[in-house]
Amino acid sequence: MGKVFVSMGISLDGYVAGPNRSLQNMGGDGWGSLHAWVFRQRVFRERLLLGEGGETGPDNRFLAAVFDRTGANIMGKRMFEEGERAWPETPPFRGQVFVLTHEVRAPWERKGGTTFHFVNDGLEAALQRAREAAGDEDVRISGGGATVLQYLNAGLVDELLLSLAPTFLGGGVRLFEGIDRDAVEVSITEVVGSPEVTHLRYAVRRKR
Ligand SMILES: NC(=O)c1ccc[n+]([C@@H]2O[C@H](COP(=O)([O-])OP(=O)(O)OC[C@H]3O[C@@H](n4cnc5c(N)ncnc54)[C@H](OP(=O)(O)O)[C@@H]3O)[C@@H](O)[C@H]2O)c1
Repeated sequence: MGKVFVSMGISLDGYVAGPNRSLQNMGGDGWGSLHAWVFRQRVFRERLLLGEGGETGPDNRFLAAVFDRTGANIMGKRMFEEGERAWPETPPFRGQVFVLTHEVRAPWERKGGTTFHFVNDGLEAALQRAREAAGDEDVRISGGGATVLQYLNAGLVDELLLSLAPTFLGGGVRLFEGIDRDAVEVSITEVVGSPEVTHLRYAVRRKR
């Protein structure tokens, strides 16, 4: 069985989305500064169909490894709604995506092998379905903040990757607001990066 991991971009002041977020303002104010490094990477440009070129250094290797290990994705409805408008017809996931939501909706099949399934019966049910879809590969909890926090507090995450961008967002969705420190603890397993971003890898251990 694969691991369950999180990989997110985070600001220096701990936000994964900025203030004034809406469907017209994806990721909130400052979203561009949080993810600027991502858009320069070759593997991301390929996945998002943004055209040729891109960097091939340590940040690209980091991102490529995240894509390579992912057998299925889980995300919350707010992240999905933004992506539904922004992702190309061939979304970057190329596999099964399980969207946690209260909305009842039929699966949405897209080009390139991505199908979004809308899951109404909670965290564990979504994870079970994602594990089945992933086989021996890993399950990525893609975001956003509320979804990742629930999986952390439930002790269901094995690994946390945070790409720390040297920027302040000053408000928005704070990833660890409401973390249960009696539920999980972390230890650093790797730090890599470039002048643009620092990738922090943590092993997550369930405490109870
Ligand atoms: N920095 C990064 O790397 C990164 C990555 C991903 C996303 N993001 C950002 O994160 C933001 C969204 O984060 P968020 O914390 O606001 O929302 P979210 O986690 O994406 O979605 C939360 C919503 O998902 C549904 N949901 C979550 N858990 C559920 C459960 N157990 N059962 C049923 N439904 C459940 C609910 O929506 P309903 O009740 O409406 O169904 C809930 O309001 C976006 O702006 C996105 O751009 C950032």
